[in-house]
Amino acid sequence: MTIIDNSRTAALDLLRLVRDEGAYANLALSQVLKKHALNGRDAAFTVELAYGVLRNQLLYDTYIQQCSQREISTIEPEITDVLRMGVHQIVSMRVPDHAAVDSSVNLARGISSGGQAQARAGFVNAILRCVARNHDAGFEPQSDMSIAYSHPQWIIDAYRDSLIACGRDDSELENLLQANNLPAKPVVAVRFDDPEIDGTSPGRWSENARVLDSVIPQELVNGMESRIIVQDEGSQLVAQAFLLATPSGPESAWLDMCAGPGGKAALISDSVPQGVTFTAVELHEHRARLVKQVVTTSATVVVADARTRPWGNLFFDRVLVDAPCTGLGALRRRPEARWRKNASDLYGLNTLQEELLLAALDSTRSGGIVCYVTCSPHVEETRDILRTVLAERPDAHVEDARPLFPGVTDLGPGPTVQLWPHIHGTDAMFFALIRRN
Ligand SMILES: C[S@@+](CC[C@H](N)C(=O)[O-])C[C@H]1O[C@@H](n2cnc3c(N)ncnc32)[C@H](O)[C@@H]1O
Repeated sequence: MTIIDNSRTAALDLLRLVRDEGAYANLALSQVLKKHALNGRDAAFTVELAYGVLRNQLLYDTYIQQCSQREISTIEPEITDVLRMGVHQIVSMRVPDHAAVDSSVNLARGISSGGQAQARAGFVNAILRCVARNHDAGFEPQSDMSIAYSHPQWIIDAYRDSLIACGRDDSELENLLQANNLPAKPVVAVRFDDPEIDGTSPGRWSENARVLDSVIPQELVNGMESRIIVQDEGSQLVAQAFLLATPSGPESAWLDMCAGPGGKAALISDSVPQGVTFTAVELHEHRARLVKQVVTTSATVVVADARTRPWGNLFFDRVLVDAPCTGLGALRRRPEARWRKNASDLYGLNTLQEELLLAALDSTRSGGIVCYVTCSPHVEETRDILRTVLAERPDAHVEDARPLFPGVTDLGPGPTVQLWPHIHGTDAMFFALIRRN
């Protein structure tokens, strides 16, 4: 078996874990790469293949169906994955058609036995040759945006609403969907002493950001846990904005109400001034453990439901509410996520988001600030939450957050900030600055 076949076998393995065990591709990846002893370009090939298939599966299934008499839902799932991988190599990677077809036929043969192996290999061969011919001839353009960009329709509708609510033109929608389908380069935030990291380039906006070309080498993570945080540049900007905000008067206490796994808490804990306490709250024990591993030792990590205000009568100068959300702004980095979410997820989340924001306002002193953040641009978990909560709270108001993102261009009319993958090259983070009167 050649090295490159090993990469394809690993991609198939990753797809199986996502399909059968509900794994998150970005979390299962390191285990799969380790099992197949892959790194460097071979690891990058595996990631491109598996992530590409997960993102584009609706479009690829349409191409497969055009070539198959069999209804695609009746094809064995692992053979569907082999076919999707073949299609991705033909239409989106620079793999020659014959190599894409032959390697897929070998994979199909390898996961079957006896006469079944021959039949499956023949089936895969016929379908992929047909897809390659259609590709050469130019596929019929897809009029359905959901198929063309392989996104569920409700997510497309939510993006359109959000672009319009942010004063943008809905003609940007296709750029946004395209950006979601492009492999997002890994980004790390460097801490403290600004370590040099070989093979990285500077980020676009954040001084702390270092961008890697492809997969983050395990050696880097192992050797530098305390000096870097794997974190999209949008999240780095949000942590910086929290630090740049200006509560009136002297400060003594900061709070992160939804801290796990701790990316923002880590960057914040690095900058807590002398004499100021920093409390990081997280509902889930296992996520709170991750927070403890990355924050500086002076931070206090509390496992609790932040809505119960486990800090008692303490009032804070700054509070970060990085609320649990649908994550629609981070689909670039979570390739399978778009298929696992649905619009009904919003109902429970909206109540939780409102309650968390109310608890934050209840625990912020006069002149203090609350930063309400989501990694989603969905109007119902961003602007609508602010509108609902502030209608009940005349003791708080929204301020222009754009000055907290110095140097970042095209931030729209404010006062809230919405970052976009197709504009800023970051996850679509939402940030609102609220001040207690
Ligand atoms: C968007 S994530 C926060 C990401 C984090 N700030 C970071 O930068 O790594 C939301 C977190 O809130 C936690 N959470 C959910 N409900 C909560 C609650 N009621 N109280 C405290 N934390 C909660 C979730 O477990 C999740 O870890």
